[in-house]
Amino acid sequence: MFFPTYRPRRLRETPNLRRLVRETRLSVENLVYPVFVTHGTNVKREIPSMPGNYHYSVDTLVNEAREVAALGVPALLLFGLPDKKDEAGSEGYAKSGIVQRSLRALKKAKPDLLLITDVCLCEYTSHGHCGVLTKDGKIDNDATLPVLAQIALSHAEAGADMVAPSDMMDGRVDAIRQSLDMNGHKNIPIMSYAAKYASGFYGPFREAALSTPQSGDRCSHQMDPANSLEALREVALDVDEGADIIMVKPALAYLDIIAKVKEEFNLPVAAYNVSGEYSMVKAAAANGWIDGERVMMEILTGIKRAGADIIITYHAKAAAKVLGR
Ligand code: PBG
Repeated sequence: MFFPTYRPRRLRETPNLRRLVRETRLSVENLVYPVFVTHGTNVKREIPSMPGNYHYSVDTLVNEAREVAALGVPALLLFGLPDKKDEAGSEGYAKSGIVQRSLRALKKAKPDLLLITDVCLCEYTSHGHCGVLTKDGKIDNDATLPVLAQIALSHAEAGADMVAPSDMMDGRVDAIRQSLDMNGHKNIPIMSYAAKYASGFYGPFREAALSTPQSGDRCSHQMDPANSLEALREVALDVDEGADIIMVKPALAYLDIIAKVKEEFNLPVAAYNVSGEYSMVKAAAANGWIDGERVMMEILTGIKRAGADIIITYHAKAAAKVLGR
């Protein structure tokens, strides 16, 4: 295509003209705010590597949820910090577990705020891996599936509106779907971390969630950053098992994957703008090297432009404030 008379500048001349022809509209409705909840009361402890994000106890989280909802953000994604970790990660599915308690309190205080829960073992196991281990210390994929199904069910029973398995075990969407269906939760959707890469960008999260593996890494179940066809295969498997929303994670180094997944599958796509992506912006802005707010909006718009319908981001509150101006 070549237009000899086209002058791109004509459509950029004034702010209102730019508004009229803008192709991507980021909205507060696209955002999900991840939060970390811990035991105790009156706790609101800033996470050093993620300024502006905190460990909350249930009571302070309820206040935070009211604020988030008032800003128009539709959903929270909950991560739990258990009291005690053990080999099996048993607080993950305990009725009195920290996420289960938060769900009951949040549902009571703010019934219409959508509550999504992270379903994984790494926050709950003493060894910090995303599954149960065999005798020789490898993750036992198949033995982990019933545990994940039990965690998801316990979340649904406590009031979760959607579950989000982030473990990357093969077959977990199917296991979770069956356990939800058999126990009266046919209408609880699954947002699966379908294409999750083995990434250095999770660094601050592992500090925040105290979930760094005690030995080894997550390369046996998370994807090689060099692969994109593999992402489409991973997503296809999860779709086949019944995922309702498919996620790509991280977002920024994987915008091409978001675009491909959006094109290939006729399902809502979520992108996780992960901790390291957040912390880099905050650190550079704190040093005066970039305009943090401007870069935040540019990043979120870029993720949306790539094809994400849902953006999970630690910037959610700040971005909601900008969008509401
Ligand atoms: C695993 C999980 C991780 C993140 C979300 N869920 C960490 C990991 O896979 O190591 C990372 C999110 C982030 O970096 O913000 N339960």
